[in-house]
Amino acid sequence: MSSLPLNAIIHGNVFDIFPQIPDKTFDLIFADPPYNLQLTQNLWRPNMTLVKAVNDQWDHFADFNEYDAFTFKWLSQCKRILKDSGSLWVIGTYHNIFRIGKILQDLNFWILNDVIWIKSNPTPNFHGTRFTNAHETLIWGVKSRNSKYTFNYQAMKTLNEDLQMRSDWMIPICTGPERLKANGKKAHSTQKPESLLYRILLATTNEGDLIFDPFFGTGTTGAVAKKLNRSWLGVEQDENYIQLAHERIEAIDSPNLDKSLLNIRGFRKTSPRIPFGYLIESGLLRAGQKLFFMGNPDKDAVIRVDGKLIHGDVTGSIHTLGRHLLNGKPCNGWTVWFYEDKERDLLPIDTLRFNLRKDFGSITELD
Ligand SMILES: C[S@@+](CC[C@H](N)C(=O)[O-])C[C@H]1O[C@@H](n2cnc3c(N)ncnc32)[C@H](O)[C@@H]1O
Repeated sequence: MSSLPLNAIIHGNVFDIFPQIPDKTFDLIFADPPYNLQLTQNLWRPNMTLVKAVNDQWDHFADFNEYDAFTFKWLSQCKRILKDSGSLWVIGTYHNIFRIGKILQDLNFWILNDVIWIKSNPTPNFHGTRFTNAHETLIWGVKSRNSKYTFNYQAMKTLNEDLQMRSDWMIPICTGPERLKANGKKAHSTQKPESLLYRILLATTNEGDLIFDPFFGTGTTGAVAKKLNRSWLGVEQDENYIQLAHERIEAIDSPNLDKSLLNIRGFRKTSPRIPFGYLIESGLLRAGQKLFFMGNPDKDAVIRVDGKLIHGDVTGSIHTLGRHLLNGKPCNGWTVWFYEDKERDLLPIDTLRFNLRKDFGSITELD
């Protein structure tokens, strides 16, 4: 990467740094830009304590035009320094994310998803004047429609207990020991949770990839990149934040993760697919036998000859009937239906499938 340092924070205004960065340098850019919150007055809780809002100098812009010009400038540069196969992630709130989305499209970025980060523990709306603002939006974009970007689909599914990862992520805001403090107060008003960055980096980069964060703050991106064996570069204009970020990242033991622990590329789930019907064909379960929903002896369904289940006047597969009984919630039928074994114990039907897998061949990894 020419003469630019690696795994380092550059102190300065990012617009002075961009010219030093060659075209197509980074595999991923994560940007958490100023929000342009436009706060005009202090916000007080009902008990008259002051809410620590984002009213930092770095978040002040004269008007929307100034903010848009700023956004256009840094996003254009990001497009230039991103590899053709690279991903761009930008996070924001209703104050700025629509403007950012428009500018991204004006610059011909191709948007793949907007992800809603649902905060499980948001700050309440103290005055009850509007809804509690409980989410932020992330936009995931690539340089063009034909981009060969990285998406570790299977790793995301595995993280999510084998269910396809959706675009609504429930993650707590950064609190507790992870939240950096200075003089007993929050050191940075918008420090992001590491779990958010973990998901982004695991989903859209590979080991050894190079990541850039133009608004580094307290270094959440660098901290997670280090934990996942990715290389990184951050730019931040505030020396105090840089100091905190340095200390934070230094304190992380280089994980020295073995290749086998990091390599999620090319892994395909190769465990043999066993349809539910095979349990009936093979005689492990039989037509007319009862299955019990969530192991509840009072909630049963009868197996039809073709493997469908009948519950009252509803008929469906183990999955669709399960979903019906869960009022439409996603459902893995293998884990919600139980059968009665010889000892009259209720066991999940997945145990039958598990035993069959041994006969069908073991799980292997392709690389
Ligand atoms: C929303 S915060 C990022 C917080 C960060 N994601 C974290 O988890 O700590 C935005 C940061 O961008 C920095 N910043 C704003 N404008 C900048 C500029 N032109 N050049 C460099 N840094 C800038 C601010 O000082 C602030 O720390």
